[in-house]
Amino acid sequence: MKVLVTGGAGYIGSHTCVELLHAGHDIVIVDDLSNSTADVVERVTTLGGRAPVFIEADIRDRAAMEQVFAAHAVDAVIHFAGLKAVGESVAQPLRYYDVNVHGSIVLLETMARHNVRKIIFSSSATVYGDPDTVPIREESALRTTNPYGASKLMVENIMRDHAKAAPDWGIVLLRYFNPVGAHESGLIGEDPRGIPNNLMPFIAQVAEGRRERLSVFGDDYPTTDGTGMRDYIHVVDLAIGHVKALNKLDDNHGVLTYNLGTGAASSVLDMVRAFERACGKTIPYKIEPRRAGDIAVCYAATDVAERELGWKAQRNIEQMCADTWRYQRSLIR
Ligand code: NAD
Ligand code: WQD
Repeated sequence: MKVLVTGGAGYIGSHTCVELLHAGHDIVIVDDLSNSTADVVERVTTLGGRAPVFIEADIRDRAAMEQVFAAHAVDAVIHFAGLKAVGESVAQPLRYYDVNVHGSIVLLETMARHNVRKIIFSSSATVYGDPDTVPIREESALRTTNPYGASKLMVENIMRDHAKAAPDWGIVLLRYFNPVGAHESGLIGEDPRGIPNNLMPFIAQVAEGRRERLSVFGDDYPTTDGTGMRDYIHVVDLAIGHVKALNKLDDNHGVLTYNLGTGAASSVLDMVRAFERACGKTIPYKIEPRRAGDIAVCYAATDVAERELGWKAQRNIEQMCADTWRYQRSLIR
């Protein structure tokens, strides 16, 4: 298939492009490089063995998107492009709704004009808010607590409504849990600008010596060691999940929704210890108050994705930490 990958120069998008190339697909990447750099495309070419077409454009730019679809006979779209920082979304809600919601509408409208009817959307476990029970099943209640999460749920709702009006479309909503890790080559990974919001990049920067110590947000949660527990999933497993979802779209219409997680939860201190083993250093940390909006425990029920996509995460937290560390060290040189 020829696949348009929006946000393909980003963290999850770049790993997915590599797996798509390995699976024999051709790729057109559209990315405005607002949170990535063009050299990632070269690295994807090295790892994938073939070059994607790369177009620097904003998904909200109707004329540019029109040109992309006019110039390339795309069969399906994987839509990663968007903004993803929860705290920033609280400070800049209009920007988040504009990029994530308006951008998705421009994309869907352009697809419709060009008779492209297959799309995979990057949703998030954040649409479950604070879950009533774990593991979280796909049919669990949806509720959000910040503009970022609300923008993801809005796009899901827009896509569900659109599929009712256009029943010949095939739409897959993938709800990622906590993506971490990097490609085992060390060539691509996550390198956030500024102070990392997420646990794994923060730990990696402490290990590198760029930050003094980790703040552990709360040790009084009702969990094994009192720190928050999450379902960390290796980005390469996540990327492979997209290839499986694309296969599923071959013969399916309507909306399909899948959790992409491992089904297991690790605490903040579990991750600190695993990273210490991976890098051979001590990670200094200090217990701080809880972070506003955080939940105690979150992990996925994975049986639906296993059964319907034939996909199951393979990589454990040791590999997640080892691969993150390999990539982090490559940034120092
Ligand atoms: P990322 O920031 O690394 O990648 C997003 C890419 O989209 C970047 O390359 C950025 O330059 C590009 N982009 C942003 N706005 C754009 C626009 N208007 N037009 C074109 N390109 C634009 O983020 P990621 O971690 O790879 O996340 C990818 C997707 O997965 C996002 O939609 C995110 O919300 C979702 N998601 C991420 C996580 C996570 O923890 N990383 C979890 C759940 C869901
Ligand atoms: C994990 C655990 C923190 C940083 C966020 C988004 C979610 C999704 C993934 C996009 C928690 C603790 C963290 C630190 C810490 N993104 N922590 N010190 O909050 O589960 O999810 O990213 O869709 O929408 O909300 O991930 O990595 O920020 O936190 O103690 O410096 O690590 O309290 O328990 P989170 P995270």
